[in-house]
Amino acid sequence: MAIHFQHVSYQYPSGSYQFYQAINDISLSIPSQGEMIAIVGQTGSGKSTLAQHMNALLFPSSGSVDIFGSTIRQKRDKKISYNHLRKHVGLVFQFPEYQLFEETVQKDIMFGPMNFKISAADAAELAQKAIVQVGLDETYLKRNPFNLSGGEKKRVSIAGILALDPDILVLDEPTSGLDPKGKSQMMELFTAIQKQTDKTIIIITHDMDLVYRYMDRVIVMHEGRLIRDESPDRLFHRKNLAELHLDYPETISVLAAIKAQFSLDIDIYQKDMDAALVELRRAVGK
Ligand SMILES: Nc1ncnc2c1ncn2[C@@H]1O[C@H](COP(=O)(O)OP(=O)(O)OP(=O)(O)O)[C@@H](O)[C@H]1O
Ligand SMILES: [Mg+2]
Repeated sequence: MAIHFQHVSYQYPSGSYQFYQAINDISLSIPSQGEMIAIVGQTGSGKSTLAQHMNALLFPSSGSVDIFGSTIRQKRDKKISYNHLRKHVGLVFQFPEYQLFEETVQKDIMFGPMNFKISAADAAELAQKAIVQVGLDETYLKRNPFNLSGGEKKRVSIAGILALDPDILVLDEPTSGLDPKGKSQMMELFTAIQKQTDKTIIIITHDMDLVYRYMDRVIVMHEGRLIRDESPDRLFHRKNLAELHLDYPETISVLAAIKAQFSLDIDIYQKDMDAALVELRRAVGK
């Protein structure tokens, strides 16, 4: 396994001698290949804290995290190259402001690759490719990242990680702040990268439609604990999602309402609206 959590807990310091338990006794395995994994759960459930343990930005208060053969514990270990771990696991922050700091977009995207001894010329080429991949054009490269809109900042921060080409991508709410078309373009990009490279891609999201449509596995966090780790199909077939503080994808809710209202024999488990329409036509005999 590429990443392996063993009984990991983390407490943020909060005031004098006070601690806030953000994640609690998490055990979890993540392969380096073949999976699109969603992490879901209500606000404050510990998703971002969990993600920051995946490339050793946070060290566990107790337990350990194995990341590509290095074991991360409470204390910094001089034998581990933490910088090198970030080439294995690339994390895009929930808030792009945490990630962008150079005076141009180009320098920002080039920063990661150049940190790993890639020449300036090659890094500039990677930046050019990455900016187009995230749906912006090359004119953005000369702009100041701080003057961009929220959605543009988000795209630039994602470009920075794509240019680094890590083995595993961890994206903390990569589609929040994007318009509906931007959301689906971004998800199509991640799915294409996953198909081409077979890398594992981990996405934190509140968007259950996205989870149902694109993801292979879903991890549910609740009050710092991991309470489910299963396929989206299995999760969304559950009757008690409200107890897990989650919603159903829109296709399932809409089809369930139509089924109840018109007493139709419908398979409500459709992953997108096109499939839902096909099923509806079938059910009404058209
Ligand atoms: N730097 C910090 N200091 C103290 N407490 C923190 C800090 N960062 C997060 N927390 C607390 O830890 C808990 C988990 O936070 P985390 O950011 O991991 O949640 P999340 O699931 O990502 O939420 P969201 O969906 O809102 O992004 C929250 O209750 C939060 O208030
Ligand atoms: Mg978060």
